[in-house]
Amino acid sequence: MNTARSKLSDDPISYDAAAVLATGGIKQTDLDNLVTSLSTAREESLNDLDRWRANDAGEESLDPAFIDLPERLLADYGTRRPESELFSILQTSRRLREAVDRVVVLGIGGSYMGTRALFESCCHPFHNELSRGERGGRPRLSFEGFNIDNDSAQGLLDVLRLHPSGGDGDDLLAQWAMLVVSKSGGTLETAAATRLFLSELSEAVGGDAKQIAERVVPITGASGKLASLAKTLGCPDVFGIPDGVGGRFSVFTAVGLLPASLVGIDVVRLLEGAAAMTRRYRESPVSENPVLQYVAISHLAEEKLGATIRILSSWSNQLEAVGLWYDQLLSESLGKDEKGATPLTTVTTRDLHSRGQQHQDGRRDKIITNLCVGESRRDCIGLPPLSGSTGNEDQLDDLIGTTWPSMLAAATDGTNEAYASVNRPTATIHLPQIDEFTIGQLLQMLMLATVVEGRLVGTNPYGQPGVEAYKKFMMKRLRPDG
Ligand code: PA5
Repeated sequence: MNTARSKLSDDPISYDAAAVLATGGIKQTDLDNLVTSLSTAREESLNDLDRWRANDAGEESLDPAFIDLPERLLADYGTRRPESELFSILQTSRRLREAVDRVVVLGIGGSYMGTRALFESCCHPFHNELSRGERGGRPRLSFEGFNIDNDSAQGLLDVLRLHPSGGDGDDLLAQWAMLVVSKSGGTLETAAATRLFLSELSEAVGGDAKQIAERVVPITGASGKLASLAKTLGCPDVFGIPDGVGGRFSVFTAVGLLPASLVGIDVVRLLEGAAAMTRRYRESPVSENPVLQYVAISHLAEEKLGATIRILSSWSNQLEAVGLWYDQLLSESLGKDEKGATPLTTVTTRDLHSRGQQHQDGRRDKIITNLCVGESRRDCIGLPPLSGSTGNEDQLDDLIGTTWPSMLAAATDGTNEAYASVNRPTATIHLPQIDEFTIGQLLQMLMLATVVEGRLVGTNPYGQPGVEAYKKFMMKRLRPDG
């Protein structure tokens, strides 16, 4: 098996809400009436960049630098190549790739979910199961530090202690490194995991301080506990998370780009996709702007139809982690002041067998946005004849040769028809195919949509003050006298 990649495409992703309008619950005039407010919200979201650059945010949290980050990274790479951030990321990626066969990413929330989304969408779905050769010499990627789960941490330690080629652990296949990702540098889950895996790494390299330093790559804010640890360890490669880029908006910094590049994802194409989406956001009229149309429909569904639950229904297994990343993005950004829709990711058809009943017949508090993919990356599988039988016990002989994509298309169209038959609002984000360029567009589209909706409804999309409450009460229990 190889990790075949599809051809490069420059196709734009698109958003289609015709089926929502067809329900009659939201009308074209409602959309027209929102045009001025959407234009103003777009302007405000872009002005946030100027305000942030002019240090003019006052007390307000403001992290809008993700908006033009992809174009800035690409321009820098194009003009100052060896000194650019992207060049350093690629250099470190090459160094680690040649030295180890597994990289453990430690991080939580915005510090790992974007990486997971990139890994699961753009890589071979069984990347970690392939041999090094089949992975093109790229390391495996594992995640920890996103919970405090004893047995799961022990499980990863078991895996790190395996010596796949049966040797004494000195061979390349037994080598591993860790990326520690935390913007604040003080998140307990990540910090505890850092201690644990640092101690394991130290043991694995016989306490060799130089090797430890080389195998730990911190990605963190300019100051803080993790930055200090990086200094003490003497790590040769440390990456920053730029000021003005918040955790959940950091997928196109070293946070996402370094691990992505390690596993063979074309990070330049990712950034090109993201930059293309920012251009469309800035330049397209409201009626043709995928970001603004998506926000308009989702917002009107909430206001006019009481659709406070937003289901992102992925028609590809590979986009589930994108959905989970988006759940976090929308919840942390707009779930404030007792407002904000509840996002929910589903994978279809899988979840039609668990949630389909409710979506079809349950409470009318949902809008469904399909995430549909045009072309598969791999050759289409056709339904084979039944092996081991000359009969037609499963009664599928009439479908022999029908391909997986055409069965999925029938499921998509059938599900949309079923929802339409009972006036369930259903829109679609269409990806021509899954590749770096379309994933770059999609992630940037959803980040832009989140901040512009914040500006539209008067909620600051940046910062997550509510998350501090659990941290405070957790630490009070851990340090009752502190
Ligand atoms: O979006 C956010 O800012 C959060 O989800 C953070 O990414 C998360 O809380 C982890 O924080 P840190 O990167 O500081 O460890």
